[in-house]
Amino acid sequence: MNLTQKQTRAIDLLESEAITELLYGGAAGGGKSALGCFWLIFNCYEYPGSRWLMGRAVLKTLKETTLKTFFEIAAREGLVADVDYQYRENAGVIRFSGGSEILLKDLFAYPSDPNFDSLGSLEVTGAFIDEANQITEKAKNIVKSRIRYKLDEFGLKPKLLMTCNPAKGWAYESFYRPFKAQQMPHDRAFVPSLVTDNPHISRHYINNLHTLDKASKERLLYGNWEYDSDPAALIEYDAILDLWKNDFVAEGEKYITCDAARFGGDAAKIAVWSGWRIIGWHSLPKCSMTHLADQIEALMTKHNVPASHVIVDEDGVGGGVFDIFRDYKRKAIKGFLNGSSPLEEATPQGRVKPNYANLKAQCYYRLADRINHGGVYIACPMPTEEKERLIQDLEQVKQKDMDKDGKRAVVPKEKVKELIGRSPDGGDTLMFREWFELKPKKELVFR
Ligand SMILES: Nc1ncnc2c1ncn2[C@@H]1O[C@H](COP(=O)(O)OP(=O)(O)O)[C@@H](O)[C@H]1O
Ligand SMILES: [Mg+2]
Repeated sequence: MNLTQKQTRAIDLLESEAITELLYGGAAGGGKSALGCFWLIFNCYEYPGSRWLMGRAVLKTLKETTLKTFFEIAAREGLVADVDYQYRENAGVIRFSGGSEILLKDLFAYPSDPNFDSLGSLEVTGAFIDEANQITEKAKNIVKSRIRYKLDEFGLKPKLLMTCNPAKGWAYESFYRPFKAQQMPHDRAFVPSLVTDNPHISRHYINNLHTLDKASKERLLYGNWEYDSDPAALIEYDAILDLWKNDFVAEGEKYITCDAARFGGDAAKIAVWSGWRIIGWHSLPKCSMTHLADQIEALMTKHNVPASHVIVDEDGVGGGVFDIFRDYKRKAIKGFLNGSSPLEEATPQGRVKPNYANLKAQCYYRLADRINHGGVYIACPMPTEEKERLIQDLEQVKQKDMDKDGKRAVVPKEKVKELIGRSPDGGDTLMFREWFELKPKKELVFR
């Protein structure tokens, strides 16, 4: 088989000493499955008696897609089924006449087997996971830990080849982001490959990709990782980028919102607002509650923000900041309680209590709507890394239990943490600002 340039590069990297994990693809039709199947066949011949894993989230899909590509590539390599290799469907294994074998594995995290005990006694020489974004990082790590079969005998290092389409999951965090920032650990590699890198693809295939909806086209045709297609996302990606361009958003009353952080944990964030413009953004890593309270107080003085216009998260560690203001600074700032009941909203029918699971859900739904309509402007400078984190935080604002009726809720913080590996503090800092819109303002009385 004539490998494409990108496929050749991937194979070269897999042969190099340093690389143990390689991610290939990040778009449709770039020859991802073909590369994986070729690599497995090549290894089975190169190392007679070796054992390889071919995995995908769902075994049924593996058999319907990746395995079809395997037969196609095997034929291309001149291999004859039932002569050069045998496929045993029930056992889920392909055996080569030279003694090597490929095991087909289901890598979905079933609730009945959260620790993948089913893979417990497995030992393989190497592994190929197709569409790795569909499995959890834990599943990937367990597969990696099983790569040890006859490695010394063949003089091999453990090698894991994965492919995927773009998505905001662990592959984004562990491969795409460091790749883009040119901070890839020395034992990992990412080889991007688009449909245009694959001369073997049919014109119809490319034409089809052009007919997709915008987000799918961005991801699958152009390999754009920033377009997460999750239909549960409440804020549109383009609207998030507009946050830095909406210079028409009016100035107004001053506010300070703050998401405090545990000492040594995530960074505390402070936003200074003029109306719905953010005019100051401060990220304070490893900062004590006293220091944080002092910083907030300094910003209040600098920007003329009254204590009643300052809010911190009260149920987390922010409670400490709240107490410092009350007990030592004698200033009554506001506390945001995520789980408290939603507040009344002004509607044409008067003030009503809307159907949200809690205050946090209410404020995030409102913020999402506001951002989607260009109602927020980030007017102050923000370091690129902060900006990327905030974009990611806002992308993770998702509707929970989309299909069920009942109260509107957002995906809880623990789930978001699992996905992005940190707290969405930036997003929360913006969300707290909605509280001041909900709290009824005193009408001005002229005497
Ligand atoms: N090196 C190659 N030589 C010949 N055909 C290839 C090669 N790489 C990919 N193809 C073909 O291109 C098509 C798309 O490849 P595939 O691996 O299915 O893409 P992906 O998994 O990235 O969507 C398939 O028909 C495949 O057989
Ligand atoms: Mg494929």
